[in-house]
Amino acid sequence: MSSTRISDIQMAYTDTGIGSPIVLIHGYPFNRSLWSEQLTALSNSYRVIAPDLRGFGETDPSAGPATMNRMAQDVAELMDRLQIRQAVIGGLSMGGYVALAFYKQFRSRVRNLILADTRAQADTEEAKQTRAQQAEKALSEGMAGIADAMLPKLLTPDTVSKRPEIVKRVRDMMLKTKPEGAAAALMGMAEREDQTPLLSQISAPTLILVGAEDAITPVADSEKMHRAIPNSRLVVLENAGHVSNLERTEQFNHTLLEFLRAST
Ligand code: MLT
Repeated sequence: MSSTRISDIQMAYTDTGIGSPIVLIHGYPFNRSLWSEQLTALSNSYRVIAPDLRGFGETDPSAGPATMNRMAQDVAELMDRLQIRQAVIGGLSMGGYVALAFYKQFRSRVRNLILADTRAQADTEEAKQTRAQQAEKALSEGMAGIADAMLPKLLTPDTVSKRPEIVKRVRDMMLKTKPEGAAAALMGMAEREDQTPLLSQISAPTLILVGAEDAITPVADSEKMHRAIPNSRLVVLENAGHVSNLERTEQFNHTLLEFLRAST
């Protein structure tokens, strides 16, 4: 593991492989180990960087909401430290919110975008209230209740019943998350802006991936992004839910490699 000081926090990250840089940003409430299989598959041909976002994995939490803009600035500062001016920026779910916030603030630093199991629109008022309740629950009870409630929404029923190793891996990632980090990210996600108006201005070639059974950011959200982003490709992965890179690793990696070879 490597780590570096980024403004008020010490940020942990993996940096592996040689070639054009790709930054992969994990979702909530996970950490950079979400991307292990993508790091293995891509690092033969690319330099792959996977940070632990503030409050996740081995990166320090910080006070107040961890906004998507702040997390995007953290990624930009990490790229500065690693002397990377421009990279492919990819994110899954909350990582996709961060990737879009990154594009908005630093578009010249984005070579291509990868948006997996994510959406452009902001939270509804109801979703914001649920985030506030979840943040309180994480702080008062820890992550176990949140993990139990989220699992059936993250994975397909088939994965939940037949692939205990994936269930365990996802659950363990959630249990390792610090409640303060989860709460800060929940408040940050609740505050995030609607990025729908940005979509038509995205000129970077963009790959949109989504699990056909994604119950958190459904296929319709990806279709909306695909219709709005001019140079985008949409791939729907069958038999996958919200964590499509773990449920359909081979297809996910194959799609990524194909896209990267054609566009970098
Ligand atoms: C994620 O997977 O990052 C979150 O479920 C996204 C969200 O809660 O909106």
